[in-house]
Amino acid sequence: MKTVKVAMLGMGSVNRTLLRILSTKKDRLAKNYGIVFKVIAATDTSGIVIDHSGLDFLALADHKSAGGSLSDLISYKGVQIENILNSLDLDLLFEATPVHLETGGEALNICRTALTRGISVVLANKGPLVHGIKELLEIAKLSGAGLEYSATVCGGLPILNIGARDMIAGDIKIIRGVFNGTSNFIIEAMSEGITFDQGIEKAQAVGAAEADPSLDTGGWDTAFKLLIIANTLMDVNLGLSDISVEGIDNITPKKIQSAEALGKTIKLVASAEGGKFIVKPIAEPRESFLGSINGWEMGVEIHSDIYGVSYHKLYEKEPIPTAASMMRDAVNIFTGK
Ligand SMILES: NC(=O)c1ccc[n+]([C@@H]2O[C@H](COP(=O)([O-])OP(=O)(O)OC[C@H]3O[C@@H](n4cnc5c(N)ncnc54)[C@H](OP(=O)(O)O)[C@@H]3O)[C@@H](O)[C@H]2O)c1
Repeated sequence: MKTVKVAMLGMGSVNRTLLRILSTKKDRLAKNYGIVFKVIAATDTSGIVIDHSGLDFLALADHKSAGGSLSDLISYKGVQIENILNSLDLDLLFEATPVHLETGGEALNICRTALTRGISVVLANKGPLVHGIKELLEIAKLSGAGLEYSATVCGGLPILNIGARDMIAGDIKIIRGVFNGTSNFIIEAMSEGITFDQGIEKAQAVGAAEADPSLDTGGWDTAFKLLIIANTLMDVNLGLSDISVEGIDNITPKKIQSAEALGKTIKLVASAEGGKFIVKPIAEPRESFLGSINGWEMGVEIHSDIYGVSYHKLYEKEPIPTAASMMRDAVNIFTGK
């Protein structure tokens, strides 16, 4: 039996859900994979809790779900993880703090430090990858640490695993996908004739959009995902500036209705084809694969030289599949899969 000593960075909905899954699946993980996860550290904006005997998964998740701060807990230490990471005895970080668009934030440095020390990293946060994916992969290769991030693209959809593990010796020629539920919701709401701002309000009312949905509507969240997928599955070294990004801000009810009159529906599409990487709204035939991706769904089509054209779609309303993907990544690292 392998005990994996874990630090959880961020105690938001993703890592709280992960704690609940690790609790529910504890026996299964031990029996089928020979792994016991022991969470010895966790962070939020207040700092870090550390308990070398292992924090109680459900008590920690419940405390944060009830609006508590880690600073309320007896195991709280008044320091930030970046100041003590070098002295912590850890095997794995589960990184689920917010995305920092401009630089990748402190999370990027924390990932560098951890991987250099041989501590494996599983990410839900796209920030460090957008700003340092190739560098982090190189550090991990040198130190032998694991680096997995399947939860960063399309939540529970195992697109990176399918492309990297199951399409052996294949070349991916084309990737096309709809990766952003908020944009789906806003366009769908506007198809009823309401304005862009009213569409945002409606998406917020159903819980699809953040208070500040500009990363989504501006196409950036989609571009981040395209960057991560392309850099992982295609032979490229892509930066954000290599992607042409247009969001849905200029879509009007009139444009949507004109597309509908032609049997089409507007989607915010990410594509990688012929060395061009583009995010933009496209009128897709309603009966096509991308045209059928609605609301809480995300999907991607992969055109391979030898594995045909495959279509992958996921419905994810709450972050259970995202958190499960982080568990899957960790199990793959520690079982050597
Ligand atoms: N939600 C999803 O469905 C989903 C799906 C795929 C990927 N992701 C990604 O996963 C990440 C987490 O998402 P989430 O929905 O769990 O976010 P969230 O609910 O907003 O939670 C963020 C957590 O990070 C903590 N935090 C913020 N800044 C921190 C810092 N500097 N150091 C330590 N902790 C810090 C917050 O602390 P406080 O508790 O003190 O505020 C909070 O606990 C994001 O990068 C997101 O893009 C989310």
